[in-house]
Formats: sequence, structure tokens, C-alpha cells
Amino acid sequence: MTKGLFISFEGIDGAGKSSHIDTLAQALRAAGRSVTLTREPGGTPLAEKLRALLLHEAMDALTETLLVFAARRDHLCCVIEPALARGEVVLSDRFTDATFAYQGAGRGFDLQVLSYMERLAQTGCALDADFMRNPDLTLWFDVPPAVAADRLAAARAPDRFEAEGVDFFARVAQGYADRAAAAPGRFARLDGAQAREQVAAQMLAAVSARGWLPKVAP
Ligand SMILES: Nc1ncnc2c1ncn2[C@@H]1O[C@H](COP(=O)(O)OP(=O)(O)OP(=O)(O)O)[C@@H](O)[C@H]1O
Ligand SMILES: [Mg+2]
Repeated sequence: MTKGLFISFEGIDGAGKSSHIDTLAQALRAAGRSVTLTREPGGTPLAEKLRALLLHEAMDALTETLLVFAARRDHLCCVIEPALARGEVVLSDRFTDATFAYQGAGRGFDLQVLSYMERLAQTGCALDADFMRNPDLTLWFDVPPAVAADRLAAARAPDRFEAEGVDFFARVAQGYADRAAAAPGRFARLDGAQAREQVAAQMLAAVSARGWLPKVAP
């Protein structure tokens, strides 16, 4: 059976993740793959309820982080692992790198505690396991916070995260850069400040380079 593939989409609010995820899904389907499109926080009925709380209710950083990982655990158990076991491609609009960027770099939550919680959630508490579920590829839409803010201002009313100031997003962007530096083989950095067509071309090229799509003409 075809091997499952897990690809996450990451970047600050307004970076272009949701704008490009369907394009990759279509390309993979055209190449004969079954695709599950999902998002975090969310992706299951329970996790979507937690998402609504996270985006709109005031809470401290620890409560926020616990809810994020609770949602992730449900998402892994009910959607991601079953889809990968069926040999599908899972495209997730955000995964754990977002927790390191937002709750870690953005809110100042302890990164070692986050690493521990990451292992708990992604191994199912098998802390000494050799295998921890992680994306096979993370598409990182890297845009300057000011560009992302301008895009969002034109697009929609802000949620609890989007309402944060430019300093917060500068820290979140640095959080992503740190995660990418720590796992360069997993991350593909895309210049998200470019026009949509160019960003899409970078994304498809990154997936093709790994042999998961037919090569695109230069
Ligand atoms: N390359 C681009 N050039 C110009 N505008 C863009 C580009 N990509 C996306 N946009 C626009 O920017 C806005 C934010 O894009 P999008 O919703 O895809 O970001 P996102 O990364 O999913 O953000 P969030 O994390 O808040 O969901 C949208 O209005 C979208 O149409
Ligand atoms: Mg989005």
C-alpha cells in the first residue's frame, strides 16, 4: 500500500497557508493520491470546540497550551493517524511548530515544557519510544509581520491571536525561524511575500523535490 505522508503548513497569521493548501491538495489528487485536508487547532468535533475557546476566550498561557495539546491529541487519534494508516496524504493547516512559535516564542511559555508536552501528545505518552509522529515536510510560509498584518487588515476581523501587536508577531516569526533551524531537513522555507502564483510554484517545487509530485517544468 502507498505510504502515508504528513505535510504541515506553518507561518504567522496572514502568511498565506489557507490560501495555498487547496492548490497542493489538487496537485496531489491529480497525481493519484488520496488527500485529507485538516487544520489545527481543530480537525475533529471536539478539537473544533477547543479551537473556538482558544480563539475567543481569555485564558492564561498554561491553559492555552494545555488546550492546544488536548486538541492536537484528539486530532492525531481521530484524523491524522487513521488517514496515514490508510496511505493518504494529510495536509494540516498548522501543527506543533505553531505551538512553539505562538505559545513558546510569542507568549514566553517554557520551551522545554513544550518539548515534553510534544512528546506526550505525539507518542501517546510512550516517552521513551523511538518514534514520535511528526510531519514528513513542513511548508513554512515566511513573511514579514508587517506584510501579513496589511493582508489581514484588508481581509477580516481579528481573533484573539490576530489582535496581537506587531511585536508579538515578530517573536512568533522568530519562533518559526528557530524551529526551522533546528530541523532543516523537515522544513521548506517559502518566500511568502511573493505573489500568490510564485508562492504556489515554490510550494509545488518543494513537494516535487521530495519525489511526492511529478517534477514541474522550470
Ligand atoms: N501571496 C499573496 N499575496 C497577496 N495576498 C495574499 C497572498 N497570499 C494570501 N494572501 C491574502 O492574505 C490574506 C491572508 O491569507 P491566508 O488566510 O491564506 O493566511 P493564513 O496563513 O491562512 O492566515 P491565518 O493563520 O490567520 O489563518 C488573505 O486575504 C489572502 O487572500
Ligand atoms: Mg488560515
